[in-house]
Order: sequence, then C-alpha cells, then structure tokens
Amino acid sequence: WMISSEQLFNQGPVVPVLVIKDVAHAVPLAKALIEGGIRVLEVTLRTPAALDVIREIASKVPEAMIGAGTVTNAAQLKEVAEAGAKFAISPGLTTELLEAGNQANIALIPGVSSISELMKGRDLGYTHFKFFPAEASGGIKALKSIGGPFPDVVFCPTGGISANNYLDYLALPNVRCVGGSWLAPDDVVEAGDWSKITELASQAVKGAEKLAE
Ligand code: 3PG
Repeated sequence: WMISSEQLFNQGPVVPVLVIKDVAHAVPLAKALIEGGIRVLEVTLRTPAALDVIREIASKVPEAMIGAGTVTNAAQLKEVAEAGAKFAISPGLTTELLEAGNQANIALIPGVSSISELMKGRDLGYTHFKFFPAEASGGIKALKSIGGPFPDVVFCPTGGISANNYLDYLALPNVRCVGGSWLAPDDVVEAGDWSKITELASQAVKGAEKLAE
C-alpha cells in the first residue's frame, strides 16, 4: 500500500527525526514514541545501521508510519523503499531525485529553502515540502512570506525546531507538521530511557492538540 504526501502530512503534527546508531534501539524507541502518541517516524540515513533500523521497525512495529530521512538521491530512494519505508524526506532537491520520486511507490517530501527551489519542485508536480533548515532560513517570517505567492504549497519545517518554538510554526496556515530531533535526543536514546521518550512525545502531541482546539 502507498501513502500520499497529503496523507502523510495529516498523520500527526510532529515528526521525530531519528539518528539511530544501534539497531537494538529501533523497536523500543519506535514503541516509546507510539505510546506517546507519535506514529510517523523519520529514520535518517546518517548511520550505517539506518537501513536495518527501517527494516526492523517496518517488520516488527506495524503501527508505525516508518519513513527515511536524509535521502539525497534516486539510489537511496530505491533502497529505503525496498527496506520498507513508506515515505522519504530529503534535505534538498535535485532534478534526478524529483523525477525518481514521481516514479516511486512511496511518497517523497523534497526539501527547499528558497523560492527558486520551490518553483522547481512545483514544476515537477510537488506541493508538499520540507522547509530546511527552517530556523536558519528565516523561520516563521519566511514561511509567512512564501504563503503569499504560493498559497497552494504546504510545509513540514525542520531544523532548529524545539519544544520552545514548534507551536509557533504549527499555527501557520501553510504548515501541516514540524520535524525535529528534540523528540529523541541522542543521550536519551543512548541511555535507553524509553519512558523519557514517551514523555517528550506526549508533551509535544498535547501541546499541538491544545493549539488545534
Ligand atoms: C534534519 O535532518 O531534519 C535535521 O537535522 C533536524 O534538525 P534538528 O536537529 O535541528 O531538529
């Protein structure tokens, strides 16, 4: 089965960006996030274990909406789809990647931080983007400005987002979800403190629910 970018953006307001070094952490981390109310999980291709982690979560935690992050080319897109990822997120975009995304059987969310990149993505059929690096690229102000000429485009801003500012992003009309590593800090994962992960997740979800009321 396949999930569309639109469906993905509606799965939940916060997307944890996961950098997992040890495949043994995959299942308990995924379960801890799900217990806290987060089912969309972005496993970045930044560790040698990443593909194994995706396979492990895809096969053992069926409730998870598992995807891959830091997917930067067509070969990686194919690899993560084969490993069981339901979506792929890229920090940027290339023509090669956008074209591969249009042929792929999983959703691709390309990254943009400029209007010209956004226009290139739109030309190839994309309307759902990661805005990266969000804080360094103008953050809330930039997203508000982009909403003027491009009201049809929606974003998942990521990069520099934390418990302190994520609700300001979610309040924007062109933001559907936000991503970040603050939901699974390295030291907490390394320590295997899964109840802390559940707590961070449920705090983030509760904040977003309150905002939506
Ligand atoms: C990403 O790949 O999306 C970022 O590295 C996450 O950014 P953050 O660590 O600032 O949340």
